[in-house]
Amino acid sequence: DYNPDQWSEAVQEEDARLMKLAHWNIATVPVFSWAHLNPAEGAYTFEWLDRVIERLTRAGIDLCLCTATASTPAWVAQHYPDVLTVDEQGRQKPHGNRHAFCPNSPSFRRLGGALVREMALRYRGQPRLKLWHVNNEYGGLWPNYCYCPRCADGFRAFLEQRYGSLARLNEAWSTAFWGHTYTSFTQIDPPFAHGERSIQTMILDFRRFQSASYLACFEHEARILREATPDVPVTTNLMGPFFALNYHDWAQALDVVAWDNYPRHDTPFTEVAFNHALNRGLRGGEPFLVLEQSPSHQNWADYCRLKPPGKLRLLSLQAIAHGAESVMYFQWRKSQGGIEKFHGAVVEHHGRSDARVFREVSELGQELAALGQRTLGARTPAKVAVVFDWECWWAQKASSGPSRDLDYHAEVVHHFAALHAAGIATDVVGPHADLARYDVIVLPVAYLLRSAQARAIVERVRAGATLVATFWSGVVDEDDRVHEGGAPGPLREVLGFTVEEFDALPPELEQGVRFASPLGSLGADVTHEASLLCERLWLANAKPLAHYTQQFYAGDTALTVNEYGKGKAYYLGTRLAQPTLLAFFAAIAAAHGIASPLRDGAAPPAGVEVTKRVSPSGEALLYLLNHGDVPQAVALPAGVYVDALSGETFEGSATLVPRGVRILGAAS
Ligand code: GLA
Ligand code: ZN
Repeated sequence: DYNPDQWSEAVQEEDARLMKLAHWNIATVPVFSWAHLNPAEGAYTFEWLDRVIERLTRAGIDLCLCTATASTPAWVAQHYPDVLTVDEQGRQKPHGNRHAFCPNSPSFRRLGGALVREMALRYRGQPRLKLWHVNNEYGGLWPNYCYCPRCADGFRAFLEQRYGSLARLNEAWSTAFWGHTYTSFTQIDPPFAHGERSIQTMILDFRRFQSASYLACFEHEARILREATPDVPVTTNLMGPFFALNYHDWAQALDVVAWDNYPRHDTPFTEVAFNHALNRGLRGGEPFLVLEQSPSHQNWADYCRLKPPGKLRLLSLQAIAHGAESVMYFQWRKSQGGIEKFHGAVVEHHGRSDARVFREVSELGQELAALGQRTLGARTPAKVAVVFDWECWWAQKASSGPSRDLDYHAEVVHHFAALHAAGIATDVVGPHADLARYDVIVLPVAYLLRSAQARAIVERVRAGATLVATFWSGVVDEDDRVHEGGAPGPLREVLGFTVEEFDALPPELEQGVRFASPLGSLGADVTHEASLLCERLWLANAKPLAHYTQQFYAGDTALTVNEYGKGKAYYLGTRLAQPTLLAFFAAIAAAHGIASPLRDGAAPPAGVEVTKRVSPSGEALLYLLNHGDVPQAVALPAGVYVDALSGETFEGSATLVPRGVRILGAAS
């Protein structure tokens, strides 16, 4: 992100010089410049941006042009108050900040669209225009759903469209409960914080509606851009697992997935890995872009912790190891004032190029230039899929019970993290993904489970795949109505049991599980920690694998397996701790010949991450990343390997310094 309109032309000259020095090759401009480009309705002042583009072009810097609609100018709000949003208390928010427009405001669409059209027509011939970046981090100022009268009208129209009739809506929303039956669509309001909160399907539907409303804003701008520049890809910067927007819906509208990676200083690397895998999964495994990351700290974090030397490189190469094809920054030059004046930037307030951060950015740029095309276009050959589903997240969050500690997103990350720690290549896929290429399907806490989705999973198991489903799965359908006959609903047959009852454990209560006979490296003579939720099961065809050790149901079945067609379906009726899960997944995957790409399929040492990507030419690159503070040696499969970064050769094992990275290709 380059925000030249905050600086004099003399500083901008210096910027161009420094960018070359920093091995920067693309600049995102002008993300927040609506007011600078369009100071009054119909008036445009693009001349300053012309000069910026000319200067960047002269310096050989490519352009990621942003449509600049994320920060609505004050004059727009003054003359067209329909752009202002209303919060869930029903209060109109005053103009200010950014990302503060109603997604259903006609004035926002009209005036924003006019700016986008001007910009697209003006710059469509620019030879260095590589990418359109629409708006910025839609919904970014969470909570940013809008409850204004236009959104309320839009919500009613959305419901009429979704349900077709009031009778169908009343059924889907279970309005017979507490006597909530509606007799006209006009009686329905958005779910205000102090209003209707007992119809949980309404809350779920409002989330669907708001996500679709923001998406319509994106599509509106994208349409204008595609008309003007059909060959330039159009995207927007997503935010990883961002609750408000269903990115599986969004991804279809993007030409390339792009996201902003801002781990906090203590974010586990497996969680960052999950975020990358999530983005890679949005468009069926296609590579993606990292559009923003901070070269040093994030001023919005509780503590502005520096990234220690090598951390920026490690995080950047981690992104590439999972499928990223760009390393971009927020931002180029630290602003002099405003809320982000202490946010990390490539050029700091002192403006010097002999600074540590500047040097690290330059060295990384140089290294990436040397890698050239080698990592591009590659795919992760994963045979294991973990399902992540926004609607399930929304429904679970809206639901009262079963436990205040049950966080859908955290549970999916927990299960992904175990697979990742085992070194097993794992995709994160949406609920409608094609499962044909996966041998192991992991379904953590699939509380909301559609019948069609369940059918696709059952078919894969029948054909030979292994399903691992967990507690609190198959509870409700897409209307948040409990499946008839009880959980796990449409998975009852494939899993071979019915849930009799569930027990939510407060954190101070202990629970454990013991295996009846050893499973992989999991011995039968030890108790493994369990927590959160314990389900008691009526077994039909399923075989017990492990039982509970505590509470009145000690001895009852906790984990099961069911043979089904040519496949198997496992069920974890409770939450297992990381080491148990890791060993469990390693055993399940091994039955399909799936293991880490390291010697003997072993898990990497703790703190080390391993991934493998296969390029279109067929070259496989092994990425080894040491997130720890101590040196590591990683055992390699047979063969001689050359590090694409350092040129060093390895056989038997590869060494990694703390925060060190190796990208290993087979020696020719
Ligand atoms: C987001 C925004 C940027 C900037 C960064 C700061 O990603 O897109 O404009 O505010 O946060 O971390
Ligand atoms: Zn609104």
